[in-house]
Amino acid sequence: MTSPVYLSNTWYAAAFSAELSTTPLLRTLLGEPVALYRGASGRAAALHDRCPHRFAPLHKGEVFGDDLRCPYHGLRFDPQGACVHNPIGEGKIPKAACARSYPLLERDGIVWLWWGDQPADESKLRRWPEFDDSERYTCVEGYILVKGEYQLIADNLLDLSHAEFLHPYLATEGFNRRTQYSMEQQGNTVVARNWRPSEPISGLFAFAYGDDAPTHVDHLSLVKWEAPSTLRLEIGVTRPGQPPEAGPRSYQAHLITPETAHTSHYFWKWGRDFKLADQEFSTKLQASLQAAFETEDGPMIEAQSVHMGGQPQEALKPVLLPTDSASLRARRVLQQLIEQQVAS
Ligand code: FES
Ligand SMILES: [Fe+2]
Repeated sequence: MTSPVYLSNTWYAAAFSAELSTTPLLRTLLGEPVALYRGASGRAAALHDRCPHRFAPLHKGEVFGDDLRCPYHGLRFDPQGACVHNPIGEGKIPKAACARSYPLLERDGIVWLWWGDQPADESKLRRWPEFDDSERYTCVEGYILVKGEYQLIADNLLDLSHAEFLHPYLATEGFNRRTQYSMEQQGNTVVARNWRPSEPISGLFAFAYGDDAPTHVDHLSLVKWEAPSTLRLEIGVTRPGQPPEAGPRSYQAHLITPETAHTSHYFWKWGRDFKLADQEFSTKLQASLQAAFETEDGPMIEAQSVHMGGQPQEALKPVLLPTDSASLRARRVLQQLIEQQVAS
């Protein structure tokens, strides 16, 4: 089987900051096994998990300072992958003793890995200022491994109509009939907009308002996709007729990184600007969102994948509904970017 071509010279989410420690973590990213660890200085590092000597798994090694020692014959590699210590014989370091290293950036509690041969470009990184501002926002986060191809997860998020059927307890009954859906492309960003004026309030937002909750609200969901598979969701409500910032809102990152051609890492992080100090609510919210992704979206995407039998979507000629326009556009933008990359 040929491996897919992924968009390169871009950032992919590799881990949450809290996952990295001096015990290396093995994670397969875009088909490559990567050892992720945090050195003694606090610096995060990512090395190809294959020692250049006899190909031992580096993640089974030990961290010394900021370096990682191979568990087999003890060569030590620094965060750039250079061998910095050879315990054998005279200790001479062979020129070729280099592990592949991947540039990382840690921002907003997320560890991003640069995938490509050009120098890592921080300006290409999407930021979430809300995740770094605990005075105004409270966050919860979670991760699942999905047995499905990464673009199916972006399709799922760009078309929130599925919530009425797959997550009815998170939605209001019959909301699809009341949704004014639109899609627009801004440069290489695709935005799906779901607008429901004077909508019955959902349980989550009624809780956000507390005793003073209105029965009806204007509900706006914006799903912003950026290549290759970075999604920002902004979901909020207001009393009818008020501007979007006048009511409770959530700001979400949904970050999808291919593990292999048919499996994906799905990192989600959910910031809110209401009930900031309510720990019990945070715990419940984390559990219910994680359960929705783990027991509803994840299995649905896996089942779709099984039925697609490894064939690309276009080959199967899916029947399309209006709410598919954003996911189709995102797929087209990604395809064009990959074609430009292959041609250059
Ligand atoms: S395999 Fe890593 S030092 Fe020998
Ligand atoms: Fe969902």
